[in-house]
Amino acid sequence: MRFKKIKGNFLKKSIISVDQFSQEDIEILFKTALIMEKIVKKKKPSQLLKGYCIAELFYQPSTRTFTSFLAAAEWLGAITIPIHGMDTYSSAVKGESIEDTVRTVHQTTSADLIVIRHPKDNSMEIAVKASYVPIINAGSGKKEHPTQAVLDLYTIKNELGRMKNLKVIFLGDLKYGRTIKSLGKLLTLVDKNLELFLVSPKILRMPGELVKEWKAKGVKVHQTEDLLKVLPQADVLYVTRIQKEWFEAEGKLALYNKLKGAYNINLKILKKAKKKMVIMHPLPRIGEIVYEVDNDPRAAYFREMRNGLYTRMALLKLILLGK
Ligand code: NCD
Repeated sequence: MRFKKIKGNFLKKSIISVDQFSQEDIEILFKTALIMEKIVKKKKPSQLLKGYCIAELFYQPSTRTFTSFLAAAEWLGAITIPIHGMDTYSSAVKGESIEDTVRTVHQTTSADLIVIRHPKDNSMEIAVKASYVPIINAGSGKKEHPTQAVLDLYTIKNELGRMKNLKVIFLGDLKYGRTIKSLGKLLTLVDKNLELFLVSPKILRMPGELVKEWKAKGVKVHQTEDLLKVLPQADVLYVTRIQKEWFEAEGKLALYNKLKGAYNINLKILKKAKKKMVIMHPLPRIGEIVYEVDNDPRAAYFREMRNGLYTRMALLKLILLGK
């Protein structure tokens, strides 16, 4: 199913994939995010979304995405229905479908917009088809995490002052991770000179179709297991966690245990990196970046998550009220 392109108009549209965005849409989003940043920094909550109701349905664990969507709605004055543990406590346990659940939640809460995180790759397609109101994808399966990609790109722009001519390393679990897939697509959209270094153990490589798609768009893509070889040129080092839950689901825990310590970013390794570059991670981290790195000025992962608040406020505003 193809989703509606935004084409400068977010009003009442679901956000399922970064494929929906154009360069102009990103500009609109970032401009709005800057206004949202001011609301939060001045500690002056807005009433822009007063009278609107926003529900969050999370079928997978989350800390950053869940809290920042909730806070985004609250900072804008909306009524919020945040539901964690859908996979444990909701009627999904009794076998209720995604279709019935999104319709139900609209009926029981009068939600104008529903934010969903779900382990199935095609969950958002199903939800959008059934829903009476727009859906925002807060992470679907191993495939997409569009709002994370937006906040990641916003972070790159803020930290480096540009979104072009970038040399970007994606490090870690490129097979199961979803953030790097969405961010890769978004970078391909905005940076015509993008160079991507995909660094992972061989069995955790980025799916071939995506690599092919990016190469066809003119991106220079390199795949390697050797971080030190490519680190000196990088403008962005984007680190990801090896995703234990997917190994578990596939009965491959022994393999996970073999791979889990594969990369370990510390200050010694970072001596090889440029002085002006940025270290990112969607988090949670499970040892891929040691704590000593946190005070390095290049370490942006805590600033990165704050950008999730601003960009998600911008998205909620644009979808519910338009420009
Ligand atoms: C990520 C996710 O859920 O895909 N977390 C996040 O939203 N910041 C990354 C992860 O779980 O590794």
